[in-house]
Amino acid sequence: MKSKIISRRTFVKTGAASTVFTMAAGKAMAAAKSSKGKTPIIVCSRGENWGRKVLEPAWQKWSDSGNMLDAVERGANIVELDPTDSSVGYGGLPNEEGVVELDASIMSGPTQNCGSVAAIRGIKTPCSVARLVMERTDHMMLVGEGAKRFALAHGFKEENLLTEKSRIRWLEWKENLSDKDDWFPPADGDYSGEEHRPTGTINVLGIDSNGDVFGITTTSGLAFKIPGRVGDSPIIGAGLYLDNEVGAAGATGRGEEVIRTCGSFLVVEMMRQGMSPQEACVYACKRIIQVNKGKVNFNDKFVAVNKKGQVGCAQLRSGGETHCSYITVDGFKALKAEFVNAK
Ligand code: GLY
Repeated sequence: MKSKIISRRTFVKTGAASTVFTMAAGKAMAAAKSSKGKTPIIVCSRGENWGRKVLEPAWQKWSDSGNMLDAVERGANIVELDPTDSSVGYGGLPNEEGVVELDASIMSGPTQNCGSVAAIRGIKTPCSVARLVMERTDHMMLVGEGAKRFALAHGFKEENLLTEKSRIRWLEWKENLSDKDDWFPPADGDYSGEEHRPTGTINVLGIDSNGDVFGITTTSGLAFKIPGRVGDSPIIGAGLYLDNEVGAAGATGRGEEVIRTCGSFLVVEMMRQGMSPQEACVYACKRIIQVNKGKVNFNDKFVAVNKKGQVGCAQLRSGGETHCSYITVDGFKALKAEFVNAK
């Protein structure tokens, strides 16, 4: 067993080392593009606003370090640390008891290695903990208290992730849940509330100038969930999947449906069989509609990129975040999702 661990660690170290090379700036990257024949690209499941916030620093990290895993982590960390996003990391909406629980996963194409954490509390950047599960353990997934203790062992700080805004939205949900319990809404009904029970999540996918593929999915999951509920985001093959020969895919939206269709795995496998990323994302949406016998009153969205740098994006219905975005040496672009339009 020990030799397996050592050989895997050696393998991981070799794989990581092979992706690291130093380049000062975008010009150097353009040179890498022509010498290797690959165009680096980073893709985000969100459009103009958040897409830029995530992708520009991620691209900067890639430009500075030449390490695409660091770059996608940098992009995902931006949203995790931003209290204004209510669906990822710090500021995410809590479970039904008012406690924020986060899910995240990470994959590295050169080694096909993965790591994830689920229902982790008190840690702002779960995708960075998932990366340590991938790189510093012989496991792939840690959950709950164990995941938190692992993060603390690696020097993460335990913090209160519930912002005041999220607490008020949780209280609004709780006080309006039933007229048979003892929780009452305020007499004036005013919580300064926003949309009621949103789903969010973010996928950040990257392909470097060697053509190596990396990805992250991170979320606070379904707002006001039952404590311990795990969505698709930390499940490899559901909220995230990649194959270094094919490309990468990620999912957002109602996680239960993505889990039961192995959504991101399905997208990558359809790309392997020759579909474009766009066709594969539509295919996965149609599978969810089929599994639900055509009755879909929720939303799911897929984003994908293949080794040629083509990007695809589709979702079940309009509403929510209707675009994805990507960045290359040619700059930032937002791409509208195709609505597969379940009735
Ligand atoms: N897609 C995020 C979740 O359902 O948890």
